[in-house]
Amino acid sequence: MIVPTKDLFKLAYGKYAIGAYNINNLEQTMGLFRGCIESQSPFIIQISKGARAYTDKEMLEGIIRSAAKVFPEAVFAVHLDHGDEQTCYDCINSGFYSSVMIDASHDPFEENVAITRRVVEAAHAKGISVEAELGMLGGVEEDIQVDEKNACLTDPEEAEEFIKQSGCDSLAVAIGTSHGAYKLSGGQGLHFERIKAIANKVPGFPLVMHGSSSVPQDEVKRINAAGGKLKEGAKGVDEEQYLPAAKLGVTKVNVDTDGRLVWTRVHREFFLEKPEEFDLRPAGKIFMAEYAKFIANKNTKLGSAGTLPEVRKALGL
Ligand code: G3H
Ligand code: 13P
Ligand code: ZN
Repeated sequence: MIVPTKDLFKLAYGKYAIGAYNINNLEQTMGLFRGCIESQSPFIIQISKGARAYTDKEMLEGIIRSAAKVFPEAVFAVHLDHGDEQTCYDCINSGFYSSVMIDASHDPFEENVAITRRVVEAAHAKGISVEAELGMLGGVEEDIQVDEKNACLTDPEEAEEFIKQSGCDSLAVAIGTSHGAYKLSGGQGLHFERIKAIANKVPGFPLVMHGSSSVPQDEVKRINAAGGKLKEGAKGVDEEQYLPAAKLGVTKVNVDTDGRLVWTRVHREFFLEKPEEFDLRPAGKIFMAEYAKFIANKNTKLGSAGTLPEVRKALGL
């Protein structure tokens, strides 16, 4: 059943994080629902602008509505990932989304506040919550000096002011991660001091971690052994850091890249081993099973696994 994002945040805050998984197609949706039921976990389905344009936005909505019928026990929210202002209004007016993200983090502070404020007004009028972003996520790369790196992170005082002025319901913060398969190197990791400093300024307010994939190196190696050419050695977020971050207030953890790696590994290995094969279903079946396993493991690391019965009870389901 689709529930408000804020309801999931209220139950999870300070205890565990809700996994927010991007989907683009039927196979990812089936794997996601199976994995979340297997691990007895609530979850957030994320739809990006690219995903809405991949086939047609109606297709994803239809697939998700059907999945909710196939898995009646599932409890989840539907979220627009990295929206611009117009796409946010489109999703708010569609009546399908639990929450939207307005990503105006590339704009100056005042402009970010103004855009977010407009989206918040439209969303709240329909009972939908809004995630905003403050800070520079992609800026924390290995060739940037330490001082510069810290300057890219979200400033705690600015975060407090931003939340007050914009009225947003959750905030994506720059705490050392970046999107994609090439993230951290050497001893880099999450900036726990920064998470603590932000959370101290806004206690009880849900923080969101983007770029949270762990980019497992054995996955990257398997892809390359099956003909891929991904750069090796660029690790992502250590999965053991999800829960400590969640206890500090990181309530939503965004994962897309790791799922793409599962898809790439399964399909590369399958067609390398079976070059005579041209039926799409055998590989699709393997992918759905592997994706479900991947999701269940992620939920365990996030601490959300096993919470479904108490979440259902708290929401009166
Ligand atoms: O952060 C972005 C997500 O990984 C979605 O990626 O815009 O290519 O669908 P996408
Ligand atoms: P990853 O690229 O680390 O999976 O991050 C996904 C994300 O932040 C989606 O908004
Ligand atoms: Zn993101």
